[in-house]
Amino acid sequence: MRYKIRCSVCGQPSAGVLNFRCPSCGQPLDVQLQFDFEAEKIQRSDHTVWRYAKFFPYVKETDIITLGEGWTPLVRFSTNVYFKLENLNPTGSFKDRGSTVLVSALHNLTKKAGSYVSEDSSGNAGASVAAYAARAGLRARIYVPEDVSGPKFNQIQFYGAEVVKVPGGRSRVTEEAQKAERSKLYVGHILHPLFRDGIRSLAYEIAEQLGWHVPERVYLPVSAGTLILGVIGGFRHLVESNVIEAMPKIVACQTIQVSPLYHRFKNLRYTPPMKVDSIADALVSVNPPLLDLMVKSLREVNGDTVIVEENEIFNAFTDLAGKGFFVEPSSAVAYAAYKKQLKNKEASKNDKTLIILTGTGLKTMLKPS
Ligand SMILES: Cc1ncc(COP(=O)(O)O)c(C=O)c1O
Ligand SMILES: [Zn+2]
Repeated sequence: MRYKIRCSVCGQPSAGVLNFRCPSCGQPLDVQLQFDFEAEKIQRSDHTVWRYAKFFPYVKETDIITLGEGWTPLVRFSTNVYFKLENLNPTGSFKDRGSTVLVSALHNLTKKAGSYVSEDSSGNAGASVAAYAARAGLRARIYVPEDVSGPKFNQIQFYGAEVVKVPGGRSRVTEEAQKAERSKLYVGHILHPLFRDGIRSLAYEIAEQLGWHVPERVYLPVSAGTLILGVIGGFRHLVESNVIEAMPKIVACQTIQVSPLYHRFKNLRYTPPMKVDSIADALVSVNPPLLDLMVKSLREVNGDTVIVEENEIFNAFTDLAGKGFFVEPSSAVAYAAYKKQLKNKEASKNDKTLIILTGTGLKTMLKPS
């Protein structure tokens, strides 16, 4: 099973699996697969991401660090609408797919170098990396925004990671996490190509759980872009391998406040607010480093993008909870976007639709009225 890790812009090969930037132009790296997806190679007795171990060839099977992530339920919500319950992952979000792959690939090298891992996150990815670091016996330092949600902050600490709160916006958090310090290995999930690549497994699962008949439309929330790029990567791999007939329409869902992808995709000018205070507190990347890559990929697969307002997010959140699906407001953004497109007749009830519910409601700071 061959693969290459290369620059997404100039094609320069990465210097090694620890790297997260192109050695010549500094742009994001990408994992390129040089093999087909073959359903016969699925390890069917394994009900985690690692049933697809054969398709992550840079991880040695004896190195796998797992908490039982993936193979999450795919449930029918209404006649043509399905939910993928990523909120049921071990740390409460889809991020565990990226963390299991990243930490499995890097933990031995990190330990040999006597290093600890450093990560920056609005909360969920930090909690996830902290959990997998704990399972691997690695030290972790997680940098978070000053206004991180209380339950996410607590969760990271309970996993035994050191947490550093950074004032002054999301990009300051990244700067601090990347600052060179002795023994520090920056594994930031947004830039690290292996984290993003782990999310490919989500597309494989959706296709497999639907008997290789993929939905016509897939709605997902977008902030930094690891989810959308991973999912597009997985579906494209299945199309190129002739396992599925066509790409689903990928619909990128953002909040009005944090919508750089929406604006760039529609050739509109985006002015971020002075302060992000949306209830969708996981969607905070106003200037994502993967933006060019997201726009290019979404255009190549003929996707679409929608923005939703605060009241639409809140209504979607309470609607979902009222039907028994308790997810974070950031996840409800995707359901809100679906409802909005239905109302505007940009989507039809007849389309087979899948909505990815990305994170658990148990971490929300909202209080019931
Ligand atoms: C619950 C939840 N949904 C969606 C997202 C968006 O994912 P991405 O940043 O990969 O675009 C995040 C990111 O933090 C998240 O925590
Ligand atoms: Zn480059």
